[in-house]
Amino acid sequence: MSRVLVDGHPFVPYTPESVAPDEALARGQALFDELDSRRSVRRFRSDPVSRRCIELAIRAASTAPSGAHRQPWRFVAVSDPALKARIRAGAEAEEQRNYEGGRIPPAWREALAPLGTDSDKSYLEVVPWIVVVFAEQHGLGPEGERLQNYYVKESVGIACGLFVAALHRMGLATLTHTPSPMRFLNEILERPAREQPSILFPIGYPAADCLVPDLKRKSLDEVAIFRE
Ligand SMILES: Cc1cc2nc3c(=O)[nH]c(=O)nc-3n(C[C@H](O)[C@H](O)[C@H](O)COP(=O)(O)O)c2cc1C
Repeated sequence: MSRVLVDGHPFVPYTPESVAPDEALARGQALFDELDSRRSVRRFRSDPVSRRCIELAIRAASTAPSGAHRQPWRFVAVSDPALKARIRAGAEAEEQRNYEGGRIPPAWREALAPLGTDSDKSYLEVVPWIVVVFAEQHGLGPEGERLQNYYVKESVGIACGLFVAALHRMGLATLTHTPSPMRFLNEILERPAREQPSILFPIGYPAADCLVPDLKRKSLDEVAIFRE
């Protein structure tokens, strides 16, 4: 690749494939159809998933744009049964306080009711993999100095979206799970305090008797405003 210097910084040519308009529509439709068929799953089977699939999903996620290109994400992939059991115990303890202990306000409980969620997180010991995504609040320079990160939440959110899409593309199912507060994951997974747990993804194949809530997605008119 031919590098040039712009203001003393290296740049390389970027010439993505050019896509004809009809082909663009066909690809866009195909991608939409595929993404639209994704559902969050809360009942899994225990069939193995190769580590390679998890690595590819993490690599796909890691292509996300990020504030000042800080890439402030860490993906901790867990298949160790003992660690999964500790994660389940930690998640259920927090979720029991949320669901049974009244930590979730009534309006939130009402919003969750159609999803059929509760504090039972047994799937965390059924799935072959759990991936916990940590958001790095600040980085560390070569001398251990504090490096400012930018737009951490937004960057990690985009990476998580790509991660979910990549898993779906490989025929895998997941759930965007946030057993809040999630700091218990730092201790179990031995991550430093500057990394904040963002989302916990159980990953596997849906159980044969898996049911998902009959949800409707908002129409284009409800989510888009065009000003032409
Ligand atoms: C940031 C975020 C946090 C979520 N947290 C939970 C959670 O803790 N437990 C759960 O069962 N689902 C959780 N979900 C999943 C949503 O309930 C689910 O995405 C939504 O109902 C739409 O269903 P779908 O993913 O099948 O389209 C979360 C989703 C997002 C985006």
